[in-house]
Amino acid sequence: MVLRMKSLIAVLALFLSAPLMFAADLTGIWLYSAKQPDGHTDREVFVLRQNGTQLSGKLERAWGNLVIQQGSVDGNHFTVTAKTDDGYTIACDGTLEGDKLHVTVHEPNAKPYELVAARTKTDPFLVANVIPSPALHDFLPNGLAKTPPIGWNSWNLFAGRIDDKTVREMADAMVSSGLRDAGYIYLNIDDTWEGDRDASGVIQTNNKFPDMKALADYVHSKGLKFGIYSSPGPYTCAGYEGSYAHEAQDAKTYASWGVDYLKYDWCSASRLYPDSAMRAVYQKMGDALRATNRPIVNSLCQYGRDNVWEWGPKVGGNLWRTTGDINDTYKRMMEIVDTQSAIAKWASPGQWNDPDMLEVGNGGMTTDEYRTHMSLWAMFAAPLLAGNDVRNMSADTRSILLNKDVIAIDQDPLGKQGQLVFKRGDVDYWKRPLSGGGVAIAAVNRASTAAPVKIPWRDLGIEPTSAFKDVWNSKLITIPSDPTFTIPPHGVVLLRTELVR
Ligand code: GLA
Repeated sequence: MVLRMKSLIAVLALFLSAPLMFAADLTGIWLYSAKQPDGHTDREVFVLRQNGTQLSGKLERAWGNLVIQQGSVDGNHFTVTAKTDDGYTIACDGTLEGDKLHVTVHEPNAKPYELVAARTKTDPFLVANVIPSPALHDFLPNGLAKTPPIGWNSWNLFAGRIDDKTVREMADAMVSSGLRDAGYIYLNIDDTWEGDRDASGVIQTNNKFPDMKALADYVHSKGLKFGIYSSPGPYTCAGYEGSYAHEAQDAKTYASWGVDYLKYDWCSASRLYPDSAMRAVYQKMGDALRATNRPIVNSLCQYGRDNVWEWGPKVGGNLWRTTGDINDTYKRMMEIVDTQSAIAKWASPGQWNDPDMLEVGNGGMTTDEYRTHMSLWAMFAAPLLAGNDVRNMSADTRSILLNKDVIAIDQDPLGKQGQLVFKRGDVDYWKRPLSGGGVAIAAVNRASTAAPVKIPWRDLGIEPTSAFKDVWNSKLITIPSDPTFTIPPHGVVLLRTELVR
């Protein structure tokens, strides 16, 4: 009887403790790693702490960390939501199966994907003994980019699919399409060209780029300049090798390849340094580029943090991104537009605000929207880096990218950035002073219906006797004839004073 009673109690105890016994303990470091065809290894890390049914910790990508905001475990199933400090949010859910974590990852604007992570003892993204940042000093101008850089960049269309063959084809197409002769001189390779480092730390290319020097020679042979990309952190935004602790060595390598332009993208440096150290960190590469004695345009890319426009020139920057990434939508393009007027005063020859690269011709906007995009970038004295497939352009795309007047506005030697003068109803009026006392006006219709407008010349401070060119219609306008323009939905009227030659 006593025995029976005892075993009953034992069974009961087992039953009651079952949820605890069988609940997973996810505490630990979990690593997903997969070698890609270009030789690069993709990694994602989950650093988890489980407390009862609660999960905390972080998700780590090569480009930076996301802190878990909410995490819970139910049996062997878990869900987490994690965020970067500027609000980028990723959600994951999954199950512990044996000793493997099966995870489904949900990122904004992307299809969910699955991965399997295994426990690991050390965090591959942890950097011990971060190199202290150097004392600050001010640079003298390097004399480059007297007008905003203009050319092509691989990221917006090709992202990780860019390779040697495509770059050569782009170089050919930049010549045959007339882009080069219209001024588009830089051919810039963005992220994902990087391989590992050799035994002495020299950066190698990955197998998409067999010989970077030969490729640069090819690009130069077409009368173009050659640009490349890196990061001040250990990894680039796409998770490839960055320049951290190798700045001088990398600058030398770029110079030996014949690089004319470097885009230097913060990303994983965020794991090592606070925003307040950005200036010092960018100064390091500025110094390294100067030490090569090769003229290399220095493009800072840190998404407009820490008021970069105030210190960009002091670290030798010729341009600096003013925002997070553009994408091929009217909505995102206009979000960027709305942040540019306030910082206009910081642009001048050799030092430019960069509202990110062009999406013209990539298919996500209407022709009128792309005209607005191109017109406003010209009003901003923005770098004009086309991001479309220049081997295969529609007549509309050609007419936008190759319009001589819009390019001339962008490249105006006075180098003053235009500003929003006022908004009237759905129409925004922008004005940019040009050299020789000229002026450009852009009227942008934000409505999704056409807007008939009379340009408020007087309110815009325009002389009543001026002559203007309607840039997109190639027509001459004289004031006070005062024509009515019908601006298409999301479209633009771009006017430039007709220069007296
Ligand atoms: C960041 C930059 C982009 C591009 C990618 C490459 O997102 O802002 O312009 O360079 O990285 O990974």
